[in-house]
Amino acid sequence: MEEKEVFAMPRIGDKAPEFKAVTTQGEINFPADYKGSWVILFSHPADFTPVCTSEFMTFASMEKQFNDANCKLVGLSVDGLYSHIAWLRTIKEKIEYKGMKNVEVTFPLIEDITMNVAKKYGMMMPGESSTKAVRAVFFIDPQGIIRTIIYYPLSLGRNFDELYRVLIALQAADEFKVATPADWRPGDDVIVPTAGSCGVAKERMESKDDSVKCHDWFFCTKKLDKEKVLNAIIKKK
Ligand code: BEZ
Repeated sequence: MEEKEVFAMPRIGDKAPEFKAVTTQGEINFPADYKGSWVILFSHPADFTPVCTSEFMTFASMEKQFNDANCKLVGLSVDGLYSHIAWLRTIKEKIEYKGMKNVEVTFPLIEDITMNVAKKYGMMMPGESSTKAVRAVFFIDPQGIIRTIIYYPLSLGRNFDELYRVLIALQAADEFKVATPADWRPGDDVIVPTAGSCGVAKERMESKDDSVKCHDWFFCTKKLDKEKVLNAIIKKK
């Protein structure tokens, strides 16, 4: 049977592995250069491929929305710098897709021909491909801690509204010390207290806070105003 190389994968709660890399926007020292910001580090399988092209156009078109939520974007594939530059130029000059055109990708795209970074971050999954990174997404907080990891296979383009929802939910959980239920979006009720702190069930059931509703001892929700969430997270124009 063919032996498959196994790579270590960072986990949620770990410090983001450090690396220096060459990108389309110059050299970066990761995650040190991003201290104080959220950062989404994401990989794509290959330049000049259709699903990746649709993803880059979508992500680049939403970049300001992510930046306004104090989040920077950093891409990576195991292609070289000149391939990255040529691909991004072609996207800007030639590709029109779903109303997006002249799309300029201004966030850094890492060249990783040695696969050093891709291996460090568990982006190589030999069962899927031994030569291309899968579509990995790492959400890293302003202290350099990995807070969420999402993986997609080669054939499946990501949902960037969901990536934005995850970013806002992570920040809302930190800011308001709550958890966010299924499909949560700003304005929806949140969960109190956060997961893993069930020891105070009785006090919570008897809470005098009118905005808290306990359906049973293990399931209490609370109103959290949409404006309050957005004012806390989104940079004022
Ligand atoms: C794509 O982005 O279209 C793609 C990349 C690698 C394998 C399959 C599809």
